[in-house]
Amino acid sequence: MIPDSFKQDLLNRVDIVDVVSRYVQLKKGGANYLGLCPFHNEKTPSFSVSPAKQFYHCFGCGVHGNAIGFLMTYSALGYVDAVKELAAGVGMQVPDERPPTPQESARKERETDLYALMEKAMEFYRGELKKSPRAIEYLKRRGLSGEIAARFRIGYAPEGWQSLKLAFPAYEDKALVEAGLVIEGEEGKRYDRFRDRVMFPIFSARGAVIGFGGRVMDAGEPKYLNSPETPLFEKGRELYGLVQARDAIRTEGHALVVEGYMDVVALAQYEVGNAVATLGTATTPVHVSKLLRLADEVVFCFDGDAAGRKAAWRALEVSLPLAPDHKPIRFLFLPDGEDPDSYVRKHGNEGWRSKLREAETLTQFLLAQLRAECDLGTAEGRARFISIAKPHVQKIAAPALRLQLINEIAQLARVAEGEIDRLLELPPRARFSRPAPPRTRYTAPDIPEWSLLFSLLCNLSLVEHIDPDALNAERAESQALVAIREACREFEDDPSLGLLLDRLQGSPSLEIVLRAHRYAEEIKFSAEEAETEFTEALVKLDLARRKKELDQLRAGGLASREEQVAWQEKNLAYKRLQGALPSP
Ligand code: UTP
Ligand code: MN
Repeated sequence: MIPDSFKQDLLNRVDIVDVVSRYVQLKKGGANYLGLCPFHNEKTPSFSVSPAKQFYHCFGCGVHGNAIGFLMTYSALGYVDAVKELAAGVGMQVPDERPPTPQESARKERETDLYALMEKAMEFYRGELKKSPRAIEYLKRRGLSGEIAARFRIGYAPEGWQSLKLAFPAYEDKALVEAGLVIEGEEGKRYDRFRDRVMFPIFSARGAVIGFGGRVMDAGEPKYLNSPETPLFEKGRELYGLVQARDAIRTEGHALVVEGYMDVVALAQYEVGNAVATLGTATTPVHVSKLLRLADEVVFCFDGDAAGRKAAWRALEVSLPLAPDHKPIRFLFLPDGEDPDSYVRKHGNEGWRSKLREAETLTQFLLAQLRAECDLGTAEGRARFISIAKPHVQKIAAPALRLQLINEIAQLARVAEGEIDRLLELPPRARFSRPAPPRTRYTAPDIPEWSLLFSLLCNLSLVEHIDPDALNAERAESQALVAIREACREFEDDPSLGLLLDRLQGSPSLEIVLRAHRYAEEIKFSAEEAETEFTEALVKLDLARRKKELDQLRAGGLASREEQVAWQEKNLAYKRLQGALPSP
């Protein structure tokens, strides 16, 4: 069922020396490599691997074969699994059982064409900007330097109905319509979508042009015209400025999310390079997960007016299930009538940074909004407070964040700690019937880090929840988790396991990751089961940390009343977190 051509391709790409040396210590001897045969007991090496022939052979026991055969024999894998594992190691995707249909191949080719088309259009618009004093004047008036305009590849779509003919002599090509550059009117009449507009190209995270936003220079409707949804461009998945912001997000330690093209560009002009914008749509879960993958903290930035508050609330709702314990999500509100563009222009880089320090945390924003809706001075108001808080608390997945929020709600609502869970109707943690532990050649260590590792490999979207500081750094599993987290940052979407393993080539963690991968393959958790396993492991780690802190405090003697109270509070939180785990 695996096509022969794929097998050949794979064997061409895989180096058998690499494969074997993952399991057998090899030494170079002449043209070949030598080691102790893993298939029979021996004291002097007679197991030879030939890089030229891509073959192994044991002079002692006679076993021989290629990389696939080696893996099958060594790991007791079936042919398909061995191929899959090898393919994963070199980042190849084993084709589905069937070859791509002609339509699928055609679509793939089509996409490649569209990318090239968009790139060419961008270059055309950039060239036109240089020729248009009016557009240059407009950008200058908005405070942009030539350098920033070049960095964001800003261009200009000239006046006239069919200017793109200059760049695309084959103007009737259907691909221009498909790419959203040309509109086909009634009676087949064609004309440029973007005319007399300043053009902001939108890049995919990989740096390909996938769409444009075009702004009118004087009054005109709409102010911004955007590319329609095309095979390349899906608004709700993309963030403007992500490619340009990537490095700054790392160095600044956080990502800023703003609303407009001009906000991103103006901030960059003032050396705030870590901003990205949603593309005239509300924040989506895809946006949030993309950002959490890249950044250790995300700050949403909105206007202070009612519309801004509403958009922020939407971003909050989307963030609740995605917010990890160790990556704060915050909200910054600008004074009424200001956007980041106008604010940074008025107050400069320093002014912006000091404003940024006012950003509220997710819980602060959530509680403030909820409190505004009820009178906590009355019993009825407090009851209402609990009931409107309920759905939000239930959405939070991160255990510690959830616990903190519950504690705050209990205090504000003047409800005893023991009562609040019941009132918030927090479901006892779902318990799944787990498959019996698989019979593997490996004994799975009973430590939370191992659980994190193999459940992560069952469900890579959990990667955002890995907090290096919460792990015991000396453990190989922890190092593997951190390595996976780093590798995942390079990808735009959840990477395939193959790509991930490819990225981990040469990493000291590769071996344990492969082992966990094999374990994951056998245990076959669904995404949901993996999440449960993962969350429980997180809670266990958190519990261990808290236990240590409690013990240390107690060892200190708890001399003062304050210390005793503090200890009791921490102990209570500990006990409640313990309650979150299913009983063994
Ligand atoms: P704003 O109306 O706040 O514009 O739209 P802005 O970013 O401040 O732009 P300038 O400063 O007037 O140039 C915010 C974002 O909403 C989308 C765009 O993505 C814009 O950047 N938008 C707005 C549209 O898609 N179409 C529109 O007509 C207006
Ligand atoms: Mn603006």
